[in-house]
Amino acid sequence: MLIFIYTLLTIGILQMIVNIWKYVGFLRSLRDVLSAGRGRIRFWKNIALVLLMFFLIAYLFITFKMKPDLMIAALLFSGSIFAAIMITIMFVLMNRTKARSIDIAELLIGVIDARDPNLNGHSRHVQHLTMLIYEHLPYHEKHEINLISLEYAALMHDVGKLGVPERILNKPGRLDSDEWGIMKKHPQIGVNILEPLNSFSDIVPWILYHHERIDGSGYYGLKGSKIPLASRIIAVADTYSAITMKRSYSEAGSHEEAIRIIRDVSGTQLDSEIVDIFCHIPEKLIFDCYPEQVKF
Ligand SMILES: [Fe+2]
Repeated sequence: MLIFIYTLLTIGILQMIVNIWKYVGFLRSLRDVLSAGRGRIRFWKNIALVLLMFFLIAYLFITFKMKPDLMIAALLFSGSIFAAIMITIMFVLMNRTKARSIDIAELLIGVIDARDPNLNGHSRHVQHLTMLIYEHLPYHEKHEINLISLEYAALMHDVGKLGVPERILNKPGRLDSDEWGIMKKHPQIGVNILEPLNSFSDIVPWILYHHERIDGSGYYGLKGSKIPLASRIIAVADTYSAITMKRSYSEAGSHEEAIRIIRDVSGTQLDSEIVDIFCHIPEKLIFDCYPEQVKF
């Protein structure tokens, strides 16, 4: 009987260690943009982690310092199995939420590209370029932003163009001042579209400020490091993509031309550190960022 009791307790202890390890993995995966509502549960998720650790200590104490009977061993064992089931359910629910968020993002991008032929994969191009810049950031800056959040912010940076009339989006010539005024509202429209979606709440400011200029002369007058790092990265990717992709009113510029223009506006429009990082990325890696439909 004693062997059976200690077997139950040993399995319970091992299961609790696995539970804590799985739960920490769950908390890590909550950090990205696709995991909704983490702000509200921040306190409770930490309490749950402390409780799991407390249970493990209690298991160890009862096993080694007390003389547990069958009832206590069975209770501790079933407690560890219960925790394992709950953690598994949380994982499944979170993955379903993420899948739904991805579907929403893909749907929005499909609609944007369908409405504006000039974009022709622009969102996808900016997403790939942004990821490439992120890979080349110094460690402390990488640490500042979540990769998945950045990826979706880049993909949806122009989602507000859904609120810009098609006659302006598809105008063959230059926009007049009134039309330009409407076009300038697209970051705010993007915020209006994404704000009700809890999953994307973190990336809303990044999208709002993607047209800010380092010298403070952008849409909202934010200057230098006041502009979120993610927005500064997207701005460089966006500028390169805008120059090198073909539009109905202009031919695609070359890579060299884009690099020259980006260097010219470094420190005034674009963040000089990010420009420097971008300009040192091997050309081949930058060319690989073109989405399939516009690859040369
Ligand atoms: Fe934009």
